[in-house]
Amino acid sequence: MDIDVVLTPADIERVSKASEFTGLAVVFDVLRATSTMITALHNGVKSIIPIATIKEALELKKNFPDALLGGERNGLRISAKISGGVDFDLGNSPREFVKEKVDGKTVVITTTNGTIAIKTAMKFESGVISSFLNLSATARYIIRSNPKKLTIICSGTRDKASLEDIIAAGALINKLNEIQTDLSDSAFVARDFYLYNKNNLANVVRRSANAKRLLSNPELSNDVGFCLQLDLFNFVAIIKDGKILKGE
Ligand code: MLT
Repeated sequence: MDIDVVLTPADIERVSKASEFTGLAVVFDVLRATSTMITALHNGVKSIIPIATIKEALELKKNFPDALLGGERNGLRISAKISGGVDFDLGNSPREFVKEKVDGKTVVITTTNGTIAIKTAMKFESGVISSFLNLSATARYIIRSNPKKLTIICSGTRDKASLEDIIAAGALINKLNEIQTDLSDSAFVARDFYLYNKNNLANVVRRSANAKRLLSNPELSNDVGFCLQLDLFNFVAIIKDGKILKGE
């Protein structure tokens, strides 16, 4: 299996304009979009519809009047002031997406980087989203599906790379070591960055720009510890027909 890692948002843009989308794409936005979506699926969300812009999310909500609107800008829940009149039901904290709020619901969600990365993954033959919360289940799914090519997309933060997404990509690649892989340079860097830090994972992630931003906000600081839990969930989160669904 050829493995490539898309390290930065600029690289995501380049990939999204490619002429070929062979194989399986995996998206990481550890802090926090993919961690939040996976938690929502665990808590019974029927499906998640990732959307790039606030305007498009509001448009789509018209077709799904019972759907919940979720997402963030600058890390905070989207307010009426930002959206032009509508307070979103949920932000982008995994701890908000509890069973009582989301069970059986469809969630339309827009986040700064994560949903854009997922939109790119939708162009591939198949796609999943992942996080530390379901890393082993994702690795098992990849080994089972055995694609010719695996593209791991690190969502990043605004226009920059994110340490937490790259280290998660490396951790995933390391879990694939029982099969034969051919790593691109960026995949090699991600894997070895993980191996170098694997015994100090939480501390390394806590010093990322994204973690520092969340830790400095008392309402969001617990999200960092939550998103760092390894294999809390045992299912894969599949991208299908523009939606994210719970797989086996
Ligand atoms: C994003 O999609 O950019 C993030 O997940 C940002 C955040 O949760 O604060």
